[in-house]
Amino acid sequence: MRIGVAKEIKPQEYRVALTPAGARELVQHGHEVLVESAAGIGSAFADEAYERAGASIVTLDEVWSRSELLLKVKEPIAVEYPRLREGLTLFTYLHIAADEPLTRALVDSGITSIAYETVETGDGALPLLAPMSEIAGRLAPQAGAHYLERPKGGRGILLGGVAGVTPGRVLVIGGGIVGYNAAVIAIGLGAQVTILERSVDRMRYLEQIMSGRVTLLMSSSLQIEEALKEADLVIGAVLIPGALAPKLVTREMLGGMKEASVLVDVAIDQGGCAETSRPTTHDDPVYTVDGVVHYCVANMPGAVPITSTRALTNVTLPYVEELADHGVVGAIQRDAALARGVNVVAGRVTYEAVAQAHGLEYTRLDDALAAGVA
Ligand SMILES: NC(=O)c1ccc[n+]([C@@H]2O[C@H](COP(=O)([O-])OP(=O)(O)OC[C@H]3O[C@@H](n4cnc5c(N)ncnc54)[C@H](O)[C@@H]3O)[C@@H](O)[C@H]2O)c1
Repeated sequence: MRIGVAKEIKPQEYRVALTPAGARELVQHGHEVLVESAAGIGSAFADEAYERAGASIVTLDEVWSRSELLLKVKEPIAVEYPRLREGLTLFTYLHIAADEPLTRALVDSGITSIAYETVETGDGALPLLAPMSEIAGRLAPQAGAHYLERPKGGRGILLGGVAGVTPGRVLVIGGGIVGYNAAVIAIGLGAQVTILERSVDRMRYLEQIMSGRVTLLMSSSLQIEEALKEADLVIGAVLIPGALAPKLVTREMLGGMKEASVLVDVAIDQGGCAETSRPTTHDDPVYTVDGVVHYCVANMPGAVPITSTRALTNVTLPYVEELADHGVVGAIQRDAALARGVNVVAGRVTYEAVAQAHGLEYTRLDDALAAGVA
């Protein structure tokens, strides 16, 4: 198969969808790899590294027109819509339930699109989202520690303390992938860490693997209110799948928090778990409400592209290999997780939530494939 890797053009996006190591694997499987010139630069991969791996460096026009399978990180933006076409399969983060213009562009173009974020294994896990949660979770205490410094507007507290001085207190709301990883780093920094979680099973698991190193408490409105009063750094890490994040931290509760404490609301990409959270960017990451510094960057992993690119491609490559080795139809027939990733096939929406979100007709994937359209 001829596999293309397009350069990301969204502002502040430095990741790339395939590493030179991944390119070599695909070439060794007998596939042809086309990499748009400078696609890897933001992640510190020069064109020559891809060439040494057996890939060809091509232009923007060539990567879109010659590829059979096109790999990207972020969804196409408006200037890329005219490049979408029948006969091309796009494998990338799409998030089209929240993007009607893109959904229509995909449907109208006849392209086949597979979304990283809806690839789902039988146990409901989202393997292509998990590494970004790990990274955002690990970045959260780092960002929080930075903004707790006095010149940055914070309380002026060192999370780890020193001998004879109490360490800082970190409150993590939600003990899933983000919350667990945030807690691991906060503990490593020497902070006192509390995790509030709602799922008893998850809490039992965290107790087993983190016993003695964190305080685990059942999440409730009262518990949150009490714990907020003690915290120097609060990390919002809740998720209710398919829904907006619950507003667990009310504006009133901010009044009870310490002056110049910091809230890192990682759940901001689902609306945030504080009433006062609104999305910010890496260019302008924080703002203050009622004395509490809010850090609400919606694409935290974008700050560390060298790590993020490797973590992402570690999990996407096996699916890319499946698509390349077995063809798109063969791969999605063999692998139910990959099949759940298919959102649009040749003008038909095959992911029910996307069809519902935009009032479009939903076609079962089998029916779309049976119509011989992929
Ligand atoms: N800002 C970013 O750059 C970025 C990057 C990655 C992920 N995220 C977001 O971070 C959030 C967490 O992601 P995740 O992968 O850890 O999800 P996850 O499903 O692994 O974990 C969420 C946890 O929240 C818990 N929870 C739900 N309601 C709760 C409540 N009321 N109180 C306490 N806990 C509650 C769940 O039981 C679960 O354990 C998501 O919104 C995700 O989209 C943001």
